[in-house]
Amino acid sequence: MDLGLSNKIALVTGASRGLGFAVAEQFLLENAVTIINSRTKGDLLVAQKILLEKTQKKPSFFVGDMVDKNFASMIADFIDNQFHKLDILITNAGGPPPGNFESFTELQWEEAIELSFLSHVRLIRACLSLLRKSECPSVLTITSYSVKQPIPNLILSNSIRSATIGLTKSLALEFAQENIRFNSILPGWTETERVQKLLESRAQKNGTSPETEKQLQEKDIALKRLAKPEEFGKVAAFLSSPAASYMTGLMISVDGGAIKGTY
Ligand SMILES: NC(=O)c1ccc[n+]([C@@H]2O[C@H](COP(=O)([O-])OP(=O)(O)OC[C@H]3O[C@@H](n4cnc5c(N)ncnc54)[C@H](OP(=O)(O)O)[C@@H]3O)[C@@H](O)[C@H]2O)c1
Repeated sequence: MDLGLSNKIALVTGASRGLGFAVAEQFLLENAVTIINSRTKGDLLVAQKILLEKTQKKPSFFVGDMVDKNFASMIADFIDNQFHKLDILITNAGGPPPGNFESFTELQWEEAIELSFLSHVRLIRACLSLLRKSECPSVLTITSYSVKQPIPNLILSNSIRSATIGLTKSLALEFAQENIRFNSILPGWTETERVQKLLESRAQKNGTSPETEKQLQEKDIALKRLAKPEEFGKVAAFLSSPAASYMTGLMISVDGGAIKGTY
């Protein structure tokens, strides 16, 4: 199937590693002009080199912090100057720290809201005029399956990501008349650096090892394993591509059957 991504302009934030990197890889394999972002220039240079080796296509990159209030306008200006439009926007960043309700101060709650909610709001707002220049504009917010089923020891993610889901669905309805599609992917347990750190945190809390915690987690997933990042990247590439032109306002779980509810 042709996803229709060839020569489309795609921005993936939080993409020097993990889920964002995996999405960028799929875009490059589909010949999309791809821009990756993270806070660390050295890591972006390494990511650029690896992506070039894997796909024979070189992504552009933009260094910046999603929680910096000026970030959204700066990256939108960069894309406007370089490419004059944006076809696909993937809003993604690192997740909030693990912990239970009494672990966090009010300031930490505010920081998590900045990272996991307001960063999406600002980036979408700054990129709207560029998306309006596209013939197939599409936005994908990366959230978490925690919006459907709270994850132990992740109170910040469990609480705040629901706001990003509400945002995504509202924008899908508000901008449908302009043919701008908005969807969200709810990743389950996927083998990334963040998940390794979460397993280490659980191991420390429970006096076990990260490997034991991984096995415990796998038992709770219908497919009995964690996802590979590329399994996530392929779904993201499809859902944001012109091939999914009739799909908007959707919350798609890529969780191997971790969520036990019917809906
Ligand atoms: N992996 C999973 O199983 C899973 C499950 C559910 C939800 N999620 C969510 O999906 C998102 C991506 O997860 P991941 O596992 O890919 O995380 P990851 O392995 O920690 O990678 C995060 C990426 O985002 C960049 N980043 C972090 N903070 C940023 C910021 N403020 N501004 C710009 N870039 C930033 C990181 O680079 P720098 O640190 O250099 O900036 C890195 O490239 C997170 O929000 C996570 O909570 C993941």
